[in-house]
Order: sequence, then structure tokens, then C-alpha cells
Amino acid sequence: MTKVKNVVMLGFGDMGKGIAQVCLMAGYNVIAVDVSDEIIEKGLEYNKNGFEKLEAKGKLPEGISAGDIMANLSVNKALAEAVKNADLVIEAVVEKLDVKQKLCNTVIENSPDHCIFASNTSSISITEIAQGCNKPQNVIGMHFFNPAPLMRLIEVIKGDKSSDEAMDIGVEFSESLPCLRGKRFVARVLKDRPGFIVNRVLSPSSMYSNYIVDLAYEKGIPWEQVDADLSGPNAPMTSLTLSDFTGRDIAYHAQLYYAEKLSPDFKPGNVLKMQVKEGKLGKKTGQGFYDWSQGRPQPDLSKKAGLVNRLVFGAISANEGCRILEEGVVSSWSVIDEAILAGMNFPGPMKFATEHYEEMAKLLEEYSEKLQKPYLKPCELLKTGKFVDMV
Ligand code: NAI
Repeated sequence: MTKVKNVVMLGFGDMGKGIAQVCLMAGYNVIAVDVSDEIIEKGLEYNKNGFEKLEAKGKLPEGISAGDIMANLSVNKALAEAVKNADLVIEAVVEKLDVKQKLCNTVIENSPDHCIFASNTSSISITEIAQGCNKPQNVIGMHFFNPAPLMRLIEVIKGDKSSDEAMDIGVEFSESLPCLRGKRFVARVLKDRPGFIVNRVLSPSSMYSNYIVDLAYEKGIPWEQVDADLSGPNAPMTSLTLSDFTGRDIAYHAQLYYAEKLSPDFKPGNVLKMQVKEGKLGKKTGQGFYDWSQGRPQPDLSKKAGLVNRLVFGAISANEGCRILEEGVVSSWSVIDEAILAGMNFPGPMKFATEHYEEMAKLLEEYSEKLQKPYLKPCELLKTGKFVDMV
């Protein structure tokens, strides 16, 4: 198996600069490629400042300075030349299939035979990215969570034609990357299905939250009370603050994507459609569920609306977990829980479901009727509890 030494970071934006940082910390040589000079400057500054801070805190390996690490980072705007000696190219450019396909082809054409192209896409099929290049066996997914230096999870995804060797190299490489907040968890995604593991398992919960916010809107219930229902006790941000923070447009596009790929039941709800139409996207536009013009809102959660049955969220996610087990995306429920914990910092639904699947299945029968969403019906693995042995 080829040992990776030379990495090309293709796309040096929000994700790329963070991924480059962890590759450099692990001792790899990194060449950054981006079409924007401004982004390159910002990324270099981010890495320099980051390493200097780590050095000041004594968090760099013994005898290694920020300057030593930065010496392993260079820039080359000409992709074909930049990948000449690359062992691994990690791609984090805009989320557009045609752009990624074109870059994948250029990389495979101009890099050594063994070079692996790993896409950090959060939603596009790895198989489709590899289509059109003449070595699809060398193409895999390597999905980091934001920010890459802090979030422990990396999903390594097998496209339909990815070779086992490319997957093994991707997994071994990912495991070698440090994480500033605990031990990395690398999840092998055995099948290229929409959303991979974490985003997929959490995605259908939007059907229930859309239902709740639409209902609250119709009844004129204040968002703070709905938020009090939806928010977990120890979360760093309330649920609706987090929705505003991430951006309502992001949720909207994600739901349309799953509506196209998995089921029309994912289509955005009325409130979400209205927010997008009116430009109430959350933090980025100053208004979402809350007013952000004076900074992060501090909602008063002392009064609940009483609309939410929290077990429904767990049941929906556990059901989706069982679906990806049925589809062969993962082979054990424990991987799902570990991945959610490492990628999102909250516990996954599967362990709880091992003891409560009958109750969950009943609840899902009831709620699929109530919400008029056939997709929420319990799948066979959840109904029968057969997933319990797939540890
Ligand atoms: P970004 O917009 O911050 O960075 C994208 C970069 O790609 C920009 O700097 C842009 O100049 C560059 N670029 C565009 N076309 C290029 C080309 N032809 N050649 C070279 N560079 C080019 O976007 P971000 O957020 O870093 O996302 C990048 C990828 O990572 C996307 O596929 C996204 O879905 C994925 N992702 C994003 C996460 C997030 O939370 N932002 C989390 C996980 C994955």
C-alpha cells in the first residue's frame, strides 16, 4: 500500500484551510490550490496564526515550531502541475457536480498512477464525481465535519467503483490526522448513498420540526416557546438559534436535495419556504426565527408550547439508522452512534433504540399518519428489532 507523503488541498476556503491544518500537523507536505488569491492569502494567514497559537500553548510536537510546519505548506495555482507528485488530493471546492467532475479528471490525468482523489463533498455522489475520469477506482469520499481541526469525525466513502486499496489508504490516512478535541473517529461508509451516515440519519427529523413550526405559526405561538420544546437541556445553542446560525437556506436546499433523492416527503415546510422567500435566513441576513441585528439572540425558554414529543425525534433518526443498515451503508448500529457523537457532539439514537424499538415503531406508525408522511413508517429492521444484533 502506498504511503501518503504529499497532499494537495484543492480548494482553500472554510473547509480546505482547516483540513490543510490537520494534514500539516500530522507531518504531511501540503500544496494548496485555489482559484482565488484572496482565499489563498486568508488560508495562509489562518494556518500561520493557528500554528503560532498552538506553539504558544505548547501544543505542537516536541522540538517543532510553527515556522517548521508552515515550511511544509506551499501554494500552486496551476492544478496540473501541483498534482505531479501527489499521493493524495483532497477536494473541497464549491458543491457543484460539474466543477468537481472536471477537477477530478484533471487530477487523475496529471498525477501519478497511485494518486487518490478524495472529495469532501457533503452531498454529491462519489460515484458520479468519478464518472468520466479513467481511474474511478482511485476516487473516494473523505467527508470532514466543520471545523475540521475540532470535529472528530471523518466519513470515508466508497463509491461504486472505488478500490478496496483506495479505501484502506483513505482510512489509514484519516486515522493519522490529529484532532484538537479528542480522538478521531473514522467511519467507513460502505455504500455511496445520499447523506452518507450522519447527515442522512439526522435528515428526516426535519419532517417533524417543519410540522411543529408550521403548527406553531398557524396557532400564533411565539418561537421562544417552540424553541423551549425543541431544545435539549445541555445544548450549547437553542434549537431555533442553531437553525438561524446554520442558515435557513442551507436547510431548505438540503431538504430539496433529499426530496429529490429519497422521498418527496422531505419537501420544505411552509414556514421554511416563507423564510427563504422573504430572505429571513438567520444570522447571515440579521433575521430568521430571531432578530440577530444586536448579535446572538438569548431566547427566554422558561415557557414551553407543549407541542413536541421528543421521543419522536429519536424514533425518526433510529428508523433512518435502520434504513442505512438495510441499504448496507454501514454494518453495525454502533458505528452510527459513534459517528454522530464524533461529528455532532451529541449522542446517536441507536443504543436507546435497542431497548425501545417496539415503542418507537408504534410511535412512527402513529406519526406517519398524523404528519401524512409515509416515509416515516417504521422499516423492517426497526419493527422486528433485528438490528440489535448488528453491533
Ligand atoms: P468555500 O466556499 O468556503 O470554499 C470553496 C473554495 O473552492 C473557494 O475558496 C473557491 O475559491 C474554491 N474554488 C472554487 N472553484 C475552484 C476551482 N475550480 N479550483 C480551485 N478552487 C476552486 O466552501 P466550503 O464551505 O469550504 O465547502 C467546500 C466543500 O466542502 C463543499 O463541497 C461542501 O459541501 C463541503 N463541506 C462543507 C462543510 C461546511 O460546513 N462548510 C462541511 C463538510 C463538507
